[in-house]
Amino acid sequence: MNKNILLCVSGGIAVYKAVALVSKLSQAGANVKVIMTASARQFVNPLSFQVMSKNDVYFDTFDEKDSSVIAHIDLADWADLILVAPATANVIGKMANGIADDMATTTLLATTAPVWIAPAMNVHMYDHPAVKRNLDRLAADGYQFIEPSEGFLACGYVGKGRLEEPEKITAIVKDFFSEKTQPLTDKTVVVTVGGLHVPLDEQHIISPQANGVIGQALANEARALGARVIQIENGSLNDFIQQLEDYKDQDPQVLLIHAANVPTMEKTPLVSVDGIKAVTFGQKVLGEPMLNIQSERWIDFSEKAQLNGQIIATTNPQQFARTLWSHILKGEEQ
Ligand SMILES: Cc1cc2nc3c(=O)[nH]c(=O)nc-3n(C[C@H](O)[C@H](O)[C@H](O)COP(=O)(O)O)c2cc1C
Repeated sequence: MNKNILLCVSGGIAVYKAVALVSKLSQAGANVKVIMTASARQFVNPLSFQVMSKNDVYFDTFDEKDSSVIAHIDLADWADLILVAPATANVIGKMANGIADDMATTTLLATTAPVWIAPAMNVHMYDHPAVKRNLDRLAADGYQFIEPSEGFLACGYVGKGRLEEPEKITAIVKDFFSEKTQPLTDKTVVVTVGGLHVPLDEQHIISPQANGVIGQALANEARALGARVIQIENGSLNDFIQQLEDYKDQDPQVLLIHAANVPTMEKTPLVSVDGIKAVTFGQKVLGEPMLNIQSERWIDFSEKAQLNGQIIATTNPQQFARTLWSHILKGEEQ
């Protein structure tokens, strides 16, 4: 498993298990880097993580070791997967609310890699309505969870709240990166997200209202499936048409997901999907897309869409993205 795993360790009694997790992941061939919260450092000295990961341990957002990069952005981009283990009730609350007040939470907001959360806490904390609410919110935002197991908790209670065993977490990570679950490994996917604008005249542009939620979900899912994703956001349609030609030259197997809204005017240039695999969303294009998804309004604002005559709900963008990708992959197999 030659993958970069970033482990964010927050301050619960299970921090000692996170040391074993780093060891197991490293033995499985992963490159591991660790960020610790201030509370996590109350439980275990960073040196243990440094020795196990053979990498520096990060805990101070303002300690910029390398002046050529900004550490939290660099780490966020470096990671193929981020694990938050153990995840305290506190860090879960911060993540659910977009709070970025330390190195771990700041990096978590800056990443586009898949993030898995492994909660570990007292059973009453885990059952608390506030924690449940935060977990539901994170699930809706597309985070994945490694559920805590049941058993004897350090606080003396027996119940759900134990951090899953390091061997089990490592097995889940290995499975995630296996070819079976990463069918888009080595593939380049270009995803247009949000509205792309076109010039109205020399001084004005016209740009549709778009929130980009569906395009973002499709891009996230492509990453989770192992693809190298190029995300084009809210830019100029003309620029994108130029760039697409370059992507086609670099990789003739490139797959285009054209999810961005484009204003339909007389002057709107058409995207050429000639000679490449493309999925479009009711957009007029030059050439034959492999799949064209139709919806009554812009896909971002629609509740359902039509995919090869089948009606699919779009209210949960993550769910929609998974369904669409499974269609595309089935099409690829044929
Ligand atoms: C001995 C001890 C054990 C703790 N264990 C947990 C735990 O398992 N889960 C949890 O959510 N909080 C636990 N806490 C509370 C957290 O450390 C506390 O909420 C802290 O603010 C979390 O900070 P962090 O999320 O930035 O790491 C524990 C605190 C102490 C003193």
